[in-house]
This record gives sequence, structure tokens and C-alpha cells, in this order.
Amino acid sequence: MTPKIDASALRGDAPTQPRASRSADAPVGDPSPGAGTARATGKVILIGEHSVVYGHPAIALPITSISARAEVTMTTAPSRIDSELFHGSLAAAPDRLLPTVTAVRAAIAAVSPDAQVHVRILSDIPSERGVGSSAAVAGAVVSAVSQALGRVLTPDERFDLIQDAERAAHGSPSGLDARAVCAPGPIWFQQGAIEHITVGAALHLVVADSGVRGRTREAVAAVREVRRSAPSVFDAAVSSLSALTTLARTHISAGDLAGLGAALNAAHRHLGTLGVGDPALDHLAAAARAGGSPGAKLTGGGRGGCVLALADDPEHAAELVARLRAAGAPAAWTTHMEIA
Ligand code: PMV
Repeated sequence: MTPKIDASALRGDAPTQPRASRSADAPVGDPSPGAGTARATGKVILIGEHSVVYGHPAIALPITSISARAEVTMTTAPSRIDSELFHGSLAAAPDRLLPTVTAVRAAIAAVSPDAQVHVRILSDIPSERGVGSSAAVAGAVVSAVSQALGRVLTPDERFDLIQDAERAAHGSPSGLDARAVCAPGPIWFQQGAIEHITVGAALHLVVADSGVRGRTREAVAAVREVRRSAPSVFDAAVSSLSALTTLARTHISAGDLAGLGAALNAAHRHLGTLGVGDPALDHLAAAARAGGSPGAKLTGGGRGGCVLALADDPEHAAELVARLRAAGAPAAWTTHMEIA
């Protein structure tokens, strides 16, 4: 499939054709020397979670309605962070800010090792929900810091610096989040490589928080245990998920929303077989289907976290948000991908 945008746009540094209503971009605006501002969006895995761990493909896309923004100025005082979680010097930041501190330090080291910066972070992406909070904050931070220090990063430099922060957050990240939070549209991810997916009909999706904290590490370990103890169950579920992911790409490109919805519903069932479901996720997925969603499934690690539901159009997406909130979701967001 021929990408309709160039690789730099795909990774978010210089989108030529913004394809989502509020795609990631970095840097933002035309700042004065010594200052930088950048943004990165949340992300959601459309399909392929867990099977991707075993080398199969996954599809992810940005959640265009939630984002992290970083504003950075050079300073002569010691480097400082102001965020919702912490106000103070970089050196005194608590452990939970380690990924952000790593992002700041990595960008400084890459561009101007002796520099000091003042970093302000504003984010409406919830953490520990599988929607890419840590990668988005890192993406905004590394772009804004490097911009303040006089350089616009190449897409690969930006990716590498986000991965430095992601390693501090998650140990051994696949790179899916680091790519998706900078992407203007759906991406196909397999074994570290990404491709842009052609969109044949506009995609309208709702992502709803179950209110149960996602437990990705535990869920990944549970799937590994299924592989050990019930290899035929594992093989059947993973090869089905892999085939459904390929099918989903075909449906996205052909604009076949009914086919895509059916693939999402089937993936939800296979993820349940692998032991990463949760009653709260089943409940929300069922509520979305009852509200006319062509397909709904858990997204990300599972055992909590979020569900995603396909909608027919923006109005239907808004209705599904209301329905999912009424069904118990403490928060829900929409994301829209235009034809491209
Ligand atoms: O929970 P998230 O959004 O971080 O996604 C986890 C996706 C898995 O496939 C379960 C694990 C992975 O590393 O890809």
C-alpha cells in the first residue's frame, strides 16, 4: 500500500497533510529563540495487542482529543520541571517522574549537553490506562527541549529519545507507543517497523476507561503462561488475532466498517481466551454494541484499562460516549481519522 504522507509526517515532526482533526505535531508555533513548545497525542491499539509480543502485527492510532504539551525555556538556573505531579528542580524530581526526567536529560544530552531548561508540562492524558501517557509526555518534552536549544529533531532522533524515556517507564518497550503518539493516522506496527495505513472511509472511535487500572505487565505474563500450559489454545488465539489484524487493515483501507467491527468483536473474544479480559471490559464492550457500535473490544494490556468502540459517524461517537459513561466508564474520549 502506498503511503500518502511522507515518513516525517508519519512520525509527527512536520506533518504535510494533517489527517486527523488534531494530529500530533512538534514543534508548535513559531517560538522565540531559547523557547520551544510541542505536543503529542494519546494512542490506542486498535487490534493486535498481545499477539504483537510474539512478532505478529498490530494497528495503533492517535487519540486526537487528548494530548500532552510541553513548553520549554532555556535558563541559567538549574533545570526545573513544573507539572501537575511536581514543581521543582529536575534533580529533586520523585521516582514516578523518572521517564519525564529521562526525556529532558536525553534531549539536553543530544542537543546541548551543558544547557539548563525550565520545562512546563500540561497533559490531559490519564496515566496507567494504556493510552500512551508516558510516551506522549516524552514526545512533547523531547521536541520542545530540543527546539528551545536550537534544533528540530529528525523523526528517528525523536523516536530514539522517546524510547529512552519509555525504557525508564516500562523496561523494554516495543516502540509502538513512541511511534503512535507522533502519528497523524493509523499505523501498522510489526517487529519495530511501521507503515502508514490508507484509510478508505473516515474512522470514528470511542475509547472508554473501565475505571479499573490496566495491568499490562501481569496480562503479558498471563499470556506467556497460557503459551506454556495450553500451547494449542495459545496458538489458535494468537494466529486468529494475527489474521484478524491483517483483515482489519484491509477493511480500513476498503472503508468496510461492518467488516472492521466484526474483526474487533472477534479479537475481543480471542483476548478473553488468552485470559486478559475483565468483567468491566466485557460490560462496556457489550454496552457499546447495544448502542449500535459495529464492533467493540478491550484495548491494550487488558485486565482493566480501556475499551474501544467503533462508531458510524461523529454524532454516533458522541452518543456512544454518553452511553459508556452511563454504563459506568469514568471517562471516554473520541478519535477521528479522515480518509487518506
Ligand atoms: O497497555 P498498553 O497500551 O501499554 O499495551 C500493551 C500491549 C501489549 O501487546 C499487551 C504489550 C506490548 O508490549 O505490546
